[in-house]
Amino acid sequence: MGFYWSDNELKCKQDHKVYSVAEIVEGLTDPIYLYDLVGLRHRMSVYKDQVGKKGHVHYAVKANDHPRILKEFVDAGFGVDVVSGGEFSKCLAAGFSPADIVFSGVGKTSEEITLAISEGVGQINIECPQELERVAFVASHLGKKVSVAFRMNPDVDAETHPYIKTGFRENKFGMDRSFLPELERILAANSRHLELRGLTIHIGSQIRSVKPMVEAVEKTLIDFEVLRRRGFNLLSFDVGGGIGIDYESEDLEADETFIQEYLKKIREVLDPVGCEVVFEPGRSLVARFGVLLGEVQYIKKTPFKTFAILNTGMHHLMRPALYEAHHRIVPVKARPEGSAELYDVVGPICESADVLGRERMLPSLSQGDWLGIMDAGAYGAVMVSDYNSHRRPEAVFVGD
Ligand code: LLP
Repeated sequence: MGFYWSDNELKCKQDHKVYSVAEIVEGLTDPIYLYDLVGLRHRMSVYKDQVGKKGHVHYAVKANDHPRILKEFVDAGFGVDVVSGGEFSKCLAAGFSPADIVFSGVGKTSEEITLAISEGVGQINIECPQELERVAFVASHLGKKVSVAFRMNPDVDAETHPYIKTGFRENKFGMDRSFLPELERILAANSRHLELRGLTIHIGSQIRSVKPMVEAVEKTLIDFEVLRRRGFNLLSFDVGGGIGIDYESEDLEADETFIQEYLKKIREVLDPVGCEVVFEPGRSLVARFGVLLGEVQYIKKTPFKTFAILNTGMHHLMRPALYEAHHRIVPVKARPEGSAELYDVVGPICESADVLGRERMLPSLSQGDWLGIMDAGAYGAVMVSDYNSHRRPEAVFVGD
């Protein structure tokens, strides 16, 4: 299943059919994002089959918001997690019911909150008391009652890159329990327009160990039980997203084993609580099923390095420049007789940070060869920038 490299070629296997990526890029002159919807459907079913009766999966749209991909999630009966009015509107356009949308995000504007409440959003995740007041104000103005959840900051170390840790006390996200009295006061003053449905956390992304996730749930459960004892009818515990993948390997089964282990552990902790459990995965659903494909424009040898300069780079996939993230890079088609060489695979942007892969041993490359930057289905196309005014890569779907 999925994208894989064999017999010197990048291929995509969908059920019993094998596609050659070289045939897909033939004749193209611009980079593309290539997606495998069949692999994605299979990955969705891994989540669906394991969440249990009281579990709901709300796909974190920020990972990839392409309409075609959103449609797959609508068809498979997923909810969504959005973080802006823009994402909210894209989800409505894709066919999601507003009731299946959870609205997260740390800086929602009045305009965004108005859009969400007037459309009938399922739940708004609250990040600070002022936001709760704003939501109450908008809801009363519209004459509506809205379900909210408090995003807690459990102060755990998610063991991931510092830029994508979100559940540590020094992060801007969530609230510790000292906020609860003020939040309760705002709830009480606005009981006709606000309903506290539950608590939510999200401690970071690309997390490769279940331990900090369970620790965060257990810490937050203390507040959950306290609020229940104080008379709040909490119905839902939203554990956020965060499950990582192994970017060094193409082992899809290892991802699935980790997802299953994670869901099992979270269910062990939360099933006895008797509430609905919401999961908000992004990366672990879509990352594997997208590849960024670019063409070698020049091979440049200096006394220090050999550069493969592509027509794609940090403007199309920002993760290596921003987080020094590793993505496997493979030739779309290698010459069987060629030898291997060490390359820095770089883009056309006028920044030395524009490196997609440093010191990669690759089969000998020439001008006109295509390379695949793997596992780029999450936080790839959504983070494309217009810097240097290059065209954005088109999305192409295997087997279309
Ligand atoms: N829920 C909330 C509230 C989030 O902030 C996020 C991601 C997710 C769910 C989904 O997390 P996931 O399952 O994808 O880890 N651009 C970075 C990742 C930023 C993630 C931000 N929040 C990267 O490329 O690694």
